Amino acid sequence: MRSSSGGASTWRRSDAGGGSGELSRVSAATTASTASARSVSGGGRGASFLDAFRSCFAPQEARSPDNSMSDDFHPSHQLSQSMSSQGSNSGSTFGSRRSIKGMYSPMHRNSLERGTPGSTKFSLPQIQKATKNFSPNLKIGQGGSGTVYKGQLADGTLVAVKRAKKNVYDKHMGREFWNEIETLQRIEHLNLVRFHGYLEFGGEQLIIVEYVPNGNLREHLDCVNGKVLEFSVRLEIAIDVAHAITYLHTYSDHPVIHRDIKSSNILLMNNFRAKVADFGFAKLAPTDSSHISTQVKGTAGYLDPEYLRTYQLNEKSDVYSFGVLLVELVTGRRPIEPKRSIIERVTAKWSMEKFVEGNAIQTLDANLESNDAINLAVEKIYELALQCLAPTKRNRPSMRRCAEILWSIRKDYRELVVPTSVMN
Ligand SMILES: Nc1ncnc2c1ncn2[C@@H]1O[C@H](COP(=O)(O)OP(=O)(O)O)[C@@H](O)[C@H]1O
Ligand SMILES: [Mg+2]
Repeated sequence: MRSSSGGASTWRRSDAGGGSGELSRVSAATTASTASARSVSGGGRGASFLDAFRSCFAPQEARSPDNSMSDDFHPSHQLSQSMSSQGSNSGSTFGSRRSIKGMYSPMHRNSLERGTPGSTKFSLPQIQKATKNFSPNLKIGQGGSGTVYKGQLADGTLVAVKRAKKNVYDKHMGREFWNEIETLQRIEHLNLVRFHGYLEFGGEQLIIVEYVPNGNLREHLDCVNGKVLEFSVRLEIAIDVAHAITYLHTYSDHPVIHRDIKSSNILLMNNFRAKVADFGFAKLAPTDSSHISTQVKGTAGYLDPEYLRTYQLNEKSDVYSFGVLLVELVTGRRPIEPKRSIIERVTAKWSMEKFVEGNAIQTLDANLESNDAINLAVEKIYELALQCLAPTKRNRPSMRRCAEILWSIRKDYRELVVPTSVMN
């Protein structure tokens, strides 16, 4: 769940329920260590490697920003300004959008050219009908910013309707709504939820996106439907997410930083292909590397410690969160597990410690049975995770590099697995 602290930081709990409700800060020491980016291939690791890893988790106070300029996207009237100042060719639509009085059909050129669902227009009665007037039976999700309903449009298309919380006292909520629209209307990728449109009318703020039918990753790691997510599927999900973030960072009109990569924001199709959702915290990558954010946003347990400390955001903050996600995929655990012993409480710290000791496999999700292929893959995934979790962004790989490494891990994994299954 999301909560706004009185100070400069906005936090989400490590959500998806369960015992991880406690807010916790993860900070890191300033000292960069190039050793953290060093390639490792075997069991026990040297002392410098261990030091590099430990510095990922050494606590340090976050400092206050010394610049009061807000870096968030703004409600509609400000959006057009921010878009045009970014030089975006899709920004010109925002002026006209205001005059539609809450009804919006995304004017992104790709959507229009293809005549895809992106050009659908919505009215409140349409959405009320689609969701049976926001029937509790059609509720499919609850996040910090609102409730998500399943709906069916008149033409049969299934959609997810995100209904923003009506909290007049919390201006962040409004920002998140516009943030999400701003980002969604720019992007298009197989591994990102597809935007259908939005509606702001009669006190309602609604975002309509493609319905993703198979729940979120956190639910699957928790085995909510009684089935264990196989290791090979977890690997594919990691690759899908890496592709999605690579796209955000490199291919869209202007690089976008998601800022809230986590398992409950990864949605799954019936064939377990993954789609990244929830762009409420997303932000255009700053063009000026000295840009200072006024608000650190993200979820405790996934937050880049350098961003937390310096208030300087860049794409590598998503890479850090992705490193946490990799550990989550291997262990099945939440990033912070308050009920565990102090050694195991911060899952990434515990797993990386085990990895550095040469005991990575001990952290494998107890629901999975290890074998040679999994053992090797876990080693390699942790090698990558350790790089993603480097204390400073310059020592973290790019998202594209993460994807490439994961492709090679998948290749090795398949080569080891296939002969065994052929023999059976
Ligand atoms: N397009 C969708 N299809 C299916 N379920 C969704 C969809 N979008 C969100 N959900 C469900 O709702 C939950 C909350 O949605 P999210 O967009 O993350 O909201 P919040 O910003 O409040 O966290 C997700 O974790 C997921 O379970
Ligand atoms: Mg969410």
